[in-house]
Amino acid sequence: MNDPSSRCKTMGFVDWFRRAAPYINAHRGRTFIIEIDGESTEDPQLRDIVHDLALMRSLGIHLVVVHGARPWIEQRIKSLGLEPRYAGGLCITDIAILDAAKEAIGAAHVQLEALLSMGVANSPMAGAKVRVASGNFITARPIGIRDGVDYEHTGEVRRIDVEAIRQRLSAGAIVLVSPLGYSPTGEVFSLRAEVVAAAIAAEMHAAKLVYLLDGPGIVDRQGTLVRELTLEQANTLASDLPRPAGADELGNRIRQSIHACRSGVSRVHVIDRRIEGALLLELFSRDGVGTMINADTYDSIRRATIDDIGGILELIRPLEESGALVRRSRERLETEIAHFNVVERDGAVVACAAMYPYPEESLAELACLAVDDAYRRGQCGERLLDLAGREARSAGADRLFVLTTQAAHWFRERGFIEADHSILPGERQDLYNLQRRSRVLVRAL
Ligand SMILES: CC(C)(COP(=O)(O)OP(=O)(O)OC[C@H]1O[C@@H](n2cnc3c(N)ncnc32)[C@H](O)[C@@H]1OP(=O)(O)O)[C@@H](O)C(=O)NCCC(=O)NCCS
Repeated sequence: MNDPSSRCKTMGFVDWFRRAAPYINAHRGRTFIIEIDGESTEDPQLRDIVHDLALMRSLGIHLVVVHGARPWIEQRIKSLGLEPRYAGGLCITDIAILDAAKEAIGAAHVQLEALLSMGVANSPMAGAKVRVASGNFITARPIGIRDGVDYEHTGEVRRIDVEAIRQRLSAGAIVLVSPLGYSPTGEVFSLRAEVVAAAIAAEMHAAKLVYLLDGPGIVDRQGTLVRELTLEQANTLASDLPRPAGADELGNRIRQSIHACRSGVSRVHVIDRRIEGALLLELFSRDGVGTMINADTYDSIRRATIDDIGGILELIRPLEESGALVRRSRERLETEIAHFNVVERDGAVVACAAMYPYPEESLAELACLAVDDAYRRGQCGERLLDLAGREARSAGADRLFVLTTQAAHWFRERGFIEADHSILPGERQDLYNLQRRSRVLVRAL
């Protein structure tokens, strides 16, 4: 333990564990719906994904896992020499295709059950007994005849037996759902897994819907990963997508995400399952690895413009008067407005924060974080802090510092530690106001 490198490793672990703790607490008892696409059920990494699911269950998260089976179905169809027909981007499920699909989906389902049952000594969840529950949770109806095409056994979700799912979850089981539904007349219908996942999430008002995909989440025109989208932004994106969706796996999931968010799901995550530990990184760390669609449509977080100056001044004046924030003149705000982000609700600025990068020192400052009294306890501060951290990192900083007189605890609870004011960049030290006796807190990014 006296070896500095081993101490360093230990501290890395302790630091990591402390940072994950708020997420572990926040997720306990919540319901997450996870879709695993058909391709991943063929992937060697499936084993790791399943172990991460078992770990999440052991942390008290209620999990419903919906799996696809497309490659399995395609292989089965091929081996039987069947010729699938498509219309409007959908496969027409005739009786022969349905039989092939039932077999293939059954095989994929059994494989997942087997992996979840794995208790062997060399698996990360050795000794943990994971119960899996399946059942006739989905009632389906036929898509019917559209534009003269009879889709036969291709169906859509009609009803979800939420009560039955809840019972299994409360009993501690992971609920495993296949993309098949049953009609009250006893027929079987083939469904799309991403649609089933979104329908369950919507019916259950799940805290999260997670799509695990063979791709990097949602990227912009330059190919850069989009970390967060408001529902409004997701809508704009969806309206640019080609129709019918057909095999556009990502497009289908964006549309389903919007549906789920509108029906009461708080967050949808689209993540790249090829990244090792993607689920854990996305759900238990601040930055995540995929795209998060945030259902809080009533407010939006955005870069401030000159038109926001009046709103920002109104917000910060009382806090300046109480000494929580340092005084800023209108002129100073005007020159520094590009550093600010604001949270806007119903046209009013309800929170703001500024980020100033000091690239030479690989540092960045978070300043003027303020949330209107009426909007406290609504995650505004947390979201602005997250955004500042991400922007600071993009600007080359590896640490974010803040000077505060009254909110040191708020920052400490978010991973900041107290530091001496000598860590401040040179020019900031010159401006340090000794009279205010602000505390300096810093956090690694
Ligand atoms: C700090 C601030 C931005 C947090 O706003 P917020 O994101 O809305 O945070 P919330 O009000 O939701 O609070 C979340 C939790 O932090 C706690 N908290 C809020 N302000 C706190 C403070 N000053 N010190 C310690 N804890 C604080 C709340 O009690 C709450 O915890 P609880 O739900 O367990 O009781 C807001 O309190 C504020 O505007 N403060 C004045 C300005 C300021 O001091 N800014 C920092 C200097 S840059």
